[in-house]
Amino acid sequence: MREADAEQFKEWFSGYTKTFHSDDKEEQKNIALKIRHTSEVCSVMRQLAAAMFPDENSRLVAEAAALFHDVGRFPQYAEYKTFRDSISVNHGKLGAEVLVRERVLAGLPEHEQAVILQAVQFHNAFEIPGLKDGDALMVLKMVRDADKLDIWRIYLGFYEGDPADIASEAGLGLPDLPGYSDPVLESIFNRQTASLKDLRCLNDFTLMLLSWTYDLNFTSSAALLAEKGYVSRLISLLPQTPDVLRAREELLSYLRARTAP
Ligand SMILES: [Fe+2]
Repeated sequence: MREADAEQFKEWFSGYTKTFHSDDKEEQKNIALKIRHTSEVCSVMRQLAAAMFPDENSRLVAEAAALFHDVGRFPQYAEYKTFRDSISVNHGKLGAEVLVRERVLAGLPEHEQAVILQAVQFHNAFEIPGLKDGDALMVLKMVRDADKLDIWRIYLGFYEGDPADIASEAGLGLPDLPGYSDPVLESIFNRQTASLKDLRCLNDFTLMLLSWTYDLNFTSSAALLAEKGYVSRLISLLPQTPDVLRAREELLSYLRARTAP
């Protein structure tokens, strides 16, 4: 893959996402959210790739995977007006289908196409699938980390900011109720990623985001999480019960151990 391919991909992405523009202000907020998210995930990916890949070709492929990882979000939202895969469609799989159907990657060597397509298709899988191709697995893991790091940023931006600016799908449209669900909190003590199916309210969503701490693949990603202080900031959005404060300590001590020199 060459720099010219990267430029062409950015142009395609920009043209493709423009076709989903909505005159409805609320809808457009959700669409704009995913466009901005894409550009931020690319920027985190550049940092990860710079640390991990000495050759430019691999770095460009990794960034293309980041650029396209959420391409399925646009047709998903257009058709279902939601970002909840469980009540609509698997947006990773849909994204890979869009790229194939539109022949977006056709100019690349087959192996590079496969690396990008697998990263897009599986970036949102609950668990990392056992891919045979080591390059694909590596890029998939990087996309998953970069994605999480930016989802934390977006979510905090909304809930620490002006409530009027919150995109309706920021918390997957979950209701803002008091309290939280025990199985979701438990996942943090079990050092497991919380499951989407257990989420009942916005606090559960916040807890799920916190549980992603355990799902980072690289120390450099964990270091970025620690540096941004996302754990403490997410915890502040929750009811400050003794259990929540205990969860905070659990997460912070895990992060300290993970990033210890
Ligand atoms: Fe996604």
